[in-house]
Amino acid sequence: MQFLENFKPELVISSPGRINLIGEHTDYNMGYVLPTAIEKNITFSFKKNGSENQCHVYSKTYDTGFELNLDKIAVSKVEWENYILGVLNEISKRTDKVRGFDCIVESNLPTGSGLSSSAALECGLAFGLNEIFDLGLSKIEMVQLSQTAEHTYVGTQCGIMDQFASVMSEAGNVILLDCRSLEYKHIPIDLHPYKIILLNTKVSHNLASSEYNTRKEECEQGVAIIQKKYPNVKSLRDVNGEILLASKKDMSPIVYNRCSFIVKENDRVLEMVEALKQNNLEEVGQILYKAHDGISKEYEVSCPESDFLVDFSKDNAQVLGARQTGGGFGGCTLNIVHESAVGDFVSAATKAYKDKFDITLEAFEVRPSGGTSII
Ligand code: GLA
Repeated sequence: MQFLENFKPELVISSPGRINLIGEHTDYNMGYVLPTAIEKNITFSFKKNGSENQCHVYSKTYDTGFELNLDKIAVSKVEWENYILGVLNEISKRTDKVRGFDCIVESNLPTGSGLSSSAALECGLAFGLNEIFDLGLSKIEMVQLSQTAEHTYVGTQCGIMDQFASVMSEAGNVILLDCRSLEYKHIPIDLHPYKIILLNTKVSHNLASSEYNTRKEECEQGVAIIQKKYPNVKSLRDVNGEILLASKKDMSPIVYNRCSFIVKENDRVLEMVEALKQNNLEEVGQILYKAHDGISKEYEVSCPESDFLVDFSKDNAQVLGARQTGGGFGGCTLNIVHESAVGDFVSAATKAYKDKFDITLEAFEVRPSGGTSII
């Protein structure tokens, strides 16, 4: 692309991926989540190009780019372009101040690994355009418009967690977000002498997007059944074990299991916050194992590869807990590992995983980090 020659950015933005410590699939059920941004990120180099409506976006990581006209933002056949186009479309509903720009994106966030490279892409673009064109969007508006872009242009009916974590995180903290009110609190997290180690299964079963929307529908079916007895219930957030049990016989086993997972997962978020406050790291680990069990058996968004790695970690006394993090069907498992045992654990897991699936996993430490920012 021609603009790459002599490109001198006027603004560089870093937009991070995220992990979610606990609270999976609770966001679109109006519940609690506990994510944080990590140091892996996408960087955006921006420059206004002086035109009214011509824009160029190039991915250095994938050596591919595209041109677009701000007056004709249509859905593309190329998936990653839709994250960009969707955000531009949402911004255009709020302001007409965007003009032609050139942008280079570069990522060290593995895609399809459950670390939300999609939210990083959406939010980094929104944040950068807000800066260079002085759009006056608040952080929460950028979070919300990025989420909507994913609904309309990508087709995943995602909750708000990923975009919120990407923009609002603070180093050394996880965010306790109430997805119903959008009230949030930064909760300090210090797991010393343990570290958060991600094992990337390197699989991302392509069920993810269609099954995601199916899970959402199953939860809605559950709510509709519960509402017959409890008309005040608006979402699974308003449901406890007793209320759910009262409607069990009216639900299919699948719908019951989905709802049961969400009700318990919401409680686990609050239990996790308590465990962190009391520095009860054993409990932190146990909550993760319980959550994975539900992810695998009740919500059924795990896969043999993630289950294998979580089970493998249980044989190691230096690992306090583990679970698959993110939307599901692969991606990364999150492991709480004693700092003295990280090397041995990673080599043993790598070997066992290679023997079983003939895949070389990728392992890395993550630290709770700050949200989208100018660099
Ligand atoms: C994906 C979605 C989020 C959330 C998680 C599961 O990452 O984008 O909104 O639902 O899955 O917790």
